[in-house]
Amino acid sequence: MIEIIPATIDNIPDIQKISAVAWPQTFKDILSEKQIAYMMNWMYSNESLREQMEKNNHRYVLAKHGEEFVAFLSYEPNCENTGKTKIHKIYILPSHQRKGIGKLLFNFVLTKARETGEKAVYLNVNKNNRNAINFYQRMGFYIAKEEVIDIGNGFVMDDYVFEKPLDHE
Ligand SMILES: CC(C)(COP(=O)(O)OP(=O)(O)OC[C@H]1O[C@@H](n2cnc3c(N)ncnc32)[C@H](O)[C@@H]1OP(=O)(O)O)[C@@H](O)C(=O)NCCC(=O)NCCS
Repeated sequence: MIEIIPATIDNIPDIQKISAVAWPQTFKDILSEKQIAYMMNWMYSNESLREQMEKNNHRYVLAKHGEEFVAFLSYEPNCENTGKTKIHKIYILPSHQRKGIGKLLFNFVLTKARETGEKAVYLNVNKNNRNAINFYQRMGFYIAKEEVIDIGNGFVMDDYVFEKPLDHE
């Protein structure tokens, strides 16, 4: 059985452990080794994770299978005052992908967003991340726009923004 647990600062090592396996595996054929190292340090250092949680209102949830944390997701309600929730990250350990955990985590966020009257849920995805794109489409998200984001050090993120409007009937 999978349990979904809100994460705290104390779970930073659990999040880092999952990202250390899932991140390089996801992007090894999409980004250079240098860009992977740069982005992992930018997003998953102790300082960065702490800042996301404490200052930027990023909420992390972990999926637990038995005694093992196997996935995490982070989201931000009312991101940039849009009245929309942004999913910032979702990573399932490769050994646990395609078993319904991504769907459970997405449904958790969609339920929260509906309960709080948000208009939509959206997220960014690398244009070449075919597996994630298939999953988002399966979850009822569609491409709202394209975005190229300069992340420093000569690197860019070449993304689609996917969105799912929420009805409140
Ligand atoms: C993409 C990811 C989050 C999906 O989570 P998951 O737990 O593997 O997906 P689920 O098992 O919950 O799948 C839910 C549905 O999507 C479909 N799906 C999932 N991955 C798919 C893929 N690669 N191709 C086609 N369909 C897919 C499933 O078949 C399932 O459909 P169903 O509801 O009809 O049965 C997960 O595989 C992952 O962590 N990938 C690597 C990290 C990543 O790319 N993160 C996103 C960065 S933007």
